[in-house]
Amino acid sequence: MRLFAIAALILAAACTPAGQQQAPAEAGMERTVAPILTTEQARDHHSFARPEVARVTHVALDLATDFEARRIGGTATLDIEAADGATEIVLDSKGLEIQSIATADGATLQWALGQGDEIRGQPLTVAIGEARRIVVTYRSAPDAPALQWLTPEQTLGKRHPYLFSQGQAILNRSWIPTQDSPGIRQTWEARVTAPEPIKVVMSAENLAPEGEPAGEGRRAYRFRMAQPVAPYLIAIAAGDIAFRELGPRTGVWTEPAMLDAAARELGDTERMVEAAEALYGPYRWGRYDMIVLPPSFPFGGMENPMLTFLTPTMIAGDRSLVSLIAHELAHSWSGNLVTNAAWADFWLNEGFTTYFENRIMEALYGEKRAAQERALGWEDLQEEAGQLAPAMTRLHLDLTGQDPDAGMNQIAYEKGATFLRTLEQTVGRERWDAYLRSWFDRHAFQPATSEMFLADLRANLLSAEEAERIGLERWVYEPGIPENAVRPDPNAFADVDRAVTAYAAGGSAAELGWQQWTTAERLRFLNALPRQLPRERLEALDRRFGLSEAGNAEVLFAWLRLAIGNRYDPALPAAERFLTQMGRRKFVAPLFEALVAQGDWGRPAAERIYDRARPGYHAVTQGTVDRIMGRGADA
Ligand code: BES
Ligand code: ZN
Repeated sequence: MRLFAIAALILAAACTPAGQQQAPAEAGMERTVAPILTTEQARDHHSFARPEVARVTHVALDLATDFEARRIGGTATLDIEAADGATEIVLDSKGLEIQSIATADGATLQWALGQGDEIRGQPLTVAIGEARRIVVTYRSAPDAPALQWLTPEQTLGKRHPYLFSQGQAILNRSWIPTQDSPGIRQTWEARVTAPEPIKVVMSAENLAPEGEPAGEGRRAYRFRMAQPVAPYLIAIAAGDIAFRELGPRTGVWTEPAMLDAAARELGDTERMVEAAEALYGPYRWGRYDMIVLPPSFPFGGMENPMLTFLTPTMIAGDRSLVSLIAHELAHSWSGNLVTNAAWADFWLNEGFTTYFENRIMEALYGEKRAAQERALGWEDLQEEAGQLAPAMTRLHLDLTGQDPDAGMNQIAYEKGATFLRTLEQTVGRERWDAYLRSWFDRHAFQPATSEMFLADLRANLLSAEEAERIGLERWVYEPGIPENAVRPDPNAFADVDRAVTAYAAGGSAAELGWQQWTTAERLRFLNALPRQLPRERLEALDRRFGLSEAGNAEVLFAWLRLAIGNRYDPALPAAERFLTQMGRRKFVAPLFEALVAQGDWGRPAAERIYDRARPGYHAVTQGTVDRIMGRGADA
């Protein structure tokens, strides 16, 4: 009978028409925090979980940080919903050291770590019997890829160690024993202790910002996430950090020495939240705080709910790089509220967010700046599309057997955003905005797939004729950039493009309007210059505009790429400084690629710099650069 119930459940799921949002699986389930989609597109090839049999609904962590051993450990209490007759639950694990698993009453449960692989880790199967709450006692491995443990020397203050996590895409299984799949939403809570004066923050409501005495010179911090979230969004940071309020709902954490600069740079955040709400509906997460991390943070930003994680390289002194904030904030709708069910549909997170980001930028800073940023994105897209295998230029990807990282490129971001701009242009902004807002409302706190989105467009936005004209399937399932793509305004950089032409024809650096240009314009200039330039010309640019000393990380990066491509040795010390002082993968990887591409000239420098820089990089950046340098396992 019980087996039959499971079969019926699976059958019912299989019969649901493709693209239809599914009702919560009622049969056999007690209470559902968010429905699991069971369509083929929603199947997560990067998790071992079998949520149709048993799924986690709530995680309660009680953990202690150990900075000496570089481990976090304690208990994870999991609430489970299971189909009738289910006897086991499968969790994800990567290097977790499991001590025991028991029921809430303390009765021992049998468990086993099964056959896994390098990418996904191992399935952790627990024989739950009748238990619907289990307690996993465990600790993370010292090399858990989600965690970076920094020595005091790697921080700004130099006195205390630091810890931060990065869960996306499939790394959280290295410190939390749960079902690590974006389609299996979970509410969660945590209590975490750390030695004084270390403070702990997490991507949730902060219930004791100052901490509570926990004995032995330690303090305990407590958190609660009452909304069901994808587990990759559980995040932690711990260090000598301080908080500054920015607005009624916004604030920033960072090391004390960075607090003034961070607060100044992020001063527009409250207005951004207001602009975002005016566009696509209420901000549903309470507070929007941010933390500016040490420079080894491997990304520009990470949209951890209620607490965006940020690279310090976004601090330019003039708010010129705050589109990053608009981006991470936009994820509060696209990604955190409506979430890609599997990483094959990563574009549903990033393409929507890149679109939304630009609308926030337009609302705050005007159409000109927004248009320029779109034009830069389009250039990135052209460059990346030209380098990728055609199959990887689809929006919906087949990532079976691959690291989800393989799909994390400009296609998801910029082709995705261009698709949405093309939809906007077809129906007009008014209809489009009303529709997009309704998409977020109707799918709030739920996973989504490409086919759901396309079916929803047909049901709620487009006429048959419009759908046909746009070519929805072609956009999502075919390689390349369709002909009808909305292109950026060719005049977005009219002044700079004229300057590039004049300069390329032999004009002098003295005639350039560099000092009046915005950051976007400077980037356009550096990226549009002929890739090969005589040494004297590079020298003149460097001297006149102080490029090797640029305080703006994006400008410095664009300059170093140009300089390295020309074997311009005076820029090498600046490259070495940059590469050893921060570990943001977007900057680090292309610069090592550029050096390696210069053979005899660049390879030795790359080796020497990487030897010095590698220990300071996060595992994510190390992995990427190891591949570029031909080091490591699959080199
Ligand atoms: N969610 C991403 C970061 C991410 C993607 C982490 C994939 C792990 C796997 C974040 O929102 C993001 O896109 N960050 C960008 C900045 C953005 C302005 C394009 C980054 O880090 O560069
Ligand atoms: Zn993003």
